[in-house]
Amino acid sequence: MSTELQDSATVVAANSDWFTSAVVYQVYPRSFSDSDGDGVGDIRGIIERLDYLHTLGVDVVWLSPVYVSPQNDNGYDISDYRDIDPLFGSLADLDELIAQLHARGMKLIMDLVVNHTSHEHPWFLESRSSLTNPKRDWYWWRAPENGAEPNNWGAAFSGPAWTLDETTGEYYLHLFSPQQPDLNWENPEVRAAVYEMMNWWLDRGVDGFRMDVINYISKDPALPDGRVWGSNRYGDGSAFYISGPRIHEYLQEMHREVFSPRAGALLTVGEMPGVTVDDARLFTDAARDELTMVFQFEHVGLDHDGSKWRPKALDLVDLKQSLGRWQEGLAERGWNSLYWSNHDQPRVVSRFGDDGAYRELSAKMLAGILHTHRGTPFIYQGEELGMTNMAFSTIDEYRDIEAINYFREATDLLGLPEHETLASLAQHNRDNARTPMQWSGYPGAGFTTGEPWIAINPNSARINAAEQVGRDDSVFEFYRRLIALRHSEPIIARGDFRMLLPDDPRVYAFTRSWGEQELLVLGNFGAEPVEPDVDPAWASAALLLGNYPDHTALALRPWELKVLTQTRAM
Ligand code: GLC
Repeated sequence: MSTELQDSATVVAANSDWFTSAVVYQVYPRSFSDSDGDGVGDIRGIIERLDYLHTLGVDVVWLSPVYVSPQNDNGYDISDYRDIDPLFGSLADLDELIAQLHARGMKLIMDLVVNHTSHEHPWFLESRSSLTNPKRDWYWWRAPENGAEPNNWGAAFSGPAWTLDETTGEYYLHLFSPQQPDLNWENPEVRAAVYEMMNWWLDRGVDGFRMDVINYISKDPALPDGRVWGSNRYGDGSAFYISGPRIHEYLQEMHREVFSPRAGALLTVGEMPGVTVDDARLFTDAARDELTMVFQFEHVGLDHDGSKWRPKALDLVDLKQSLGRWQEGLAERGWNSLYWSNHDQPRVVSRFGDDGAYRELSAKMLAGILHTHRGTPFIYQGEELGMTNMAFSTIDEYRDIEAINYFREATDLLGLPEHETLASLAQHNRDNARTPMQWSGYPGAGFTTGEPWIAINPNSARINAAEQVGRDDSVFEFYRRLIALRHSEPIIARGDFRMLLPDDPRVYAFTRSWGEQELLVLGNFGAEPVEPDVDPAWASAALLLGNYPDHTALALRPWELKVLTQTRAM
């Protein structure tokens, strides 16, 4: 090979794993920035904030759904995949967003919700219109079984996973709400229509997709009854749709039809509840041509008992065991995504940190631990400010279909007292993460000049971007440094990972290594000082990053983070 060819091959190789040193920022548009005062965030609002994202240093923006939607599940119920909901703006606004991001060297990935559509999507309207409509088979229709639902599956947002449609006397399947009928991916026309739509978006300039519950698209066509856990009313059908029989075939087909001509430049991340490490390795092994990475759910399932409405305290040993296993499992082949938060999860500082006296320290420690793992980190809007959970006191303050349906089911059908139901909602409800972005301490938090669609956290007077940008010891400036480190230090992007102290209930500890360089990362998950039991030789290592202004060898103060670096003699 000539030197010239070698050089260009190296460049392509370097480019095709650009995502290893990238950081993604999730915008939940409804709650990010409202430019027109209607109380709901919009695309123009995002455009106005791009300099903020550029200052933070993120490489990719993941935009939660802005497509036309009846908004039963805040846009995760789409009725037109090729237009923007007027609530958020227009296609012209989106084109401008893409152009303005690209002008700043950032990429845009769109949310792709194709396990289901809205019940108002023209495909479903046609499908439901008669037994013989050409689109009948685009969804999962079944005749009643003994006058009732075709199987015992429950839906994610309460009630059965089937709704009877009077027009034809058959039931349709919906794993989420009745307003979100599941598409039948067995039908090649469905797949072709989805691929065509995805290509349309890529041609428009988007740089990839975050793919909603993508490991649910292949179902066992026999749709057998699911196991009934404990005193649950419905069966759990997940064994028959999580990473189902044809999932790899579908994703490889999608790769061929959509990703392959531009694969190296794209970022694709599949949201995959219930995915195992072994499956994730298959999904993300570059040689298999499926996805760049997946969102797994194990570590966000450790602080509740089966149901998210039965919270329990996190055991740090479990967290290390879980994340450590994922690091190991995807070390040789595949790639991890790294996340604490998103629009479905509680705010991490309230969840795994201390959102009282140690809010800033613990928010930085959590960020430091996550971002120094091997994988691509995702930041959820407001996490970079250490935004906290919201304390809602009545059900009327909630907006999320999941919380509202659960409250109704628990109080009306199961007869649980309201205060108990509200208490069980508090920790893990999704509206915790969906209160508006806190830009300033003024009324409306700089988010809106109107009446916000959901209450603004009263702590916005204290916790806001205006107060933090440029304050050297703020959570925001800490995230900035962390992102810059990933960009500049190959050891953070690519280095090998080794977990230390797996049984220590208070200290999170691991090393990274790359050539002669080694990092030791230490995090104290509590307010008690602690002496970590690591090789004392590290005491003389240099501090690459910490969350205290000074450095005191190896002892860890409350919620302290240390990233130490040393060069080994080879
Ligand atoms: C995903 C989304 C969530 C949505 C659900 C149904 O889990 O992240 O917000 O409610 O899918 O589309």
